[in-house]
Amino acid sequence: MGSKGKILVVDDEESLREICREALVEHGYEVVEAKDGIEAIRCLEKEKDIDIVLSDLNMPGMDGMALIDYINRHNLDVELIVMTGFGTIETAVEVMKKGAFDYIPKPFYLNHLLVKIDSAMKRRHEKRQRERLNKLVQILKLNKDLNSKLELSALLNEFLFHVERTFSPEGTVIILKDNSKYSSIRVRGAFKKDPTLLKKIKSLAEYLSYKDGRSLLFIPGKVEDIDLKIKELLSDVSKQLMISPLISKSGVIGAVCLIRSVDSFEFNFDDLKLLNVFCSQTAAIIENVLLYGRVLEMNREIIRSLAKAVEAKDSYTKGHSDQVAYYGVKLARKLGLTSDELDKLYWAGIVHDVGKIGVPDNILNKPGKLTNEEFEIMKKHPVIGREILSQVETLKDIMPIIYHHHERVDGKGYPDGLKGEEIPFLARLISVVDAYDAMTSDRAYRKAMPSSKAASILEQGAGKQWDEELVDYWLRVLKQEKKI
Ligand SMILES: [Fe+2]
Repeated sequence: MGSKGKILVVDDEESLREICREALVEHGYEVVEAKDGIEAIRCLEKEKDIDIVLSDLNMPGMDGMALIDYINRHNLDVELIVMTGFGTIETAVEVMKKGAFDYIPKPFYLNHLLVKIDSAMKRRHEKRQRERLNKLVQILKLNKDLNSKLELSALLNEFLFHVERTFSPEGTVIILKDNSKYSSIRVRGAFKKDPTLLKKIKSLAEYLSYKDGRSLLFIPGKVEDIDLKIKELLSDVSKQLMISPLISKSGVIGAVCLIRSVDSFEFNFDDLKLLNVFCSQTAAIIENVLLYGRVLEMNREIIRSLAKAVEAKDSYTKGHSDQVAYYGVKLARKLGLTSDELDKLYWAGIVHDVGKIGVPDNILNKPGKLTNEEFEIMKKHPVIGREILSQVETLKDIMPIIYHHHERVDGKGYPDGLKGEEIPFLARLISVVDAYDAMTSDRAYRKAMPSSKAASILEQGAGKQWDEELVDYWLRVLKQEKKI
């Protein structure tokens, strides 16, 4: 069985240290000893798992008060119990103010000491449990907030917000690897004023990533277990720093570095562990976001080529989809629609006739009027279009626009014969610019009309085939551009 905890006993009196040690060991504690503050600091640096420091105040060399200051300055995670000599109660109050857990006046009964040690240990366990819970909550919150981001820039900003709130660094930098190049893509705080340090950090992050993405905690003056190359890179760095790799399934994709000046409270290994968890959560999400962006772009390329394939079937409609997308966005701008709606209209314009891929060439390219039977086949293109697009998750939002772009406000359109506002607004909008472009372009069955003629047909059909208000806005656009 392991010990109940590790106690550092600091006193210049060897006999007292020995008595304490015997009693504590007998009660299941592990004990290390130091004869003054200097030796205590050496122990604290060497032994990372000390739970309680039981220290005398008056010692030759470095005294207890200086030791407390050191522990506070370096943000060491230990509980402190101070042994005070007779008549030094006021000093005891002072050390309590400095954050000591308790004090025990000398001479003391060993039972009394053990009670205090046990309760310090209990408090330490409770504190650790609380901290673990806090960390867990922070990690879950980070995960939840990041997962809702689909765009890299928003994701990185959210990550920085969490990092800065949790670790209070003076400077933060996020480095990402693109192919084999390492670039800092977010630079905050103190790093902005120190390009030399930033350059060093970049080289360091790159070097650590070759070392399978090792993390690093560096406190100036406390260099240990660091290989020569890192020592060289850190040679004149005068700030505390933590570097954590961003490791995803495909390997190291970058790193995050935090700095703090040496006179600020100290980073410790618990901070580094938490930063590592933050980074590994974030790396997976960054990879997903990059992948999502690539898939989105790929889907769009496929859709674009599909739209082009339709146009290739019918030489007269060449450029029609681009034109409808362009006009649709133009009208939407005039109406002051949101950028999200502009985006939908653009893609709806590109793919609105994609269903024509299922209409036979002889019907698509027929020079004369279509027979009723042929027209029925032609009328299927919005339905086929919807079927094709339903396969593409990222274009689901624009399916209603595609499906309803041949509805008429008087209910005589197809495929559903919807009326007025039953027809989705953006479908009504596309219908106006689709008709305008069709009329002003050459078709298999007729030559292109001048803009003014197309405009007057739109005006006559407003309130019947097309939405009156939208026609009105479109005519204003045309007037503004001196097309009519
Ligand atoms: Fe159409």
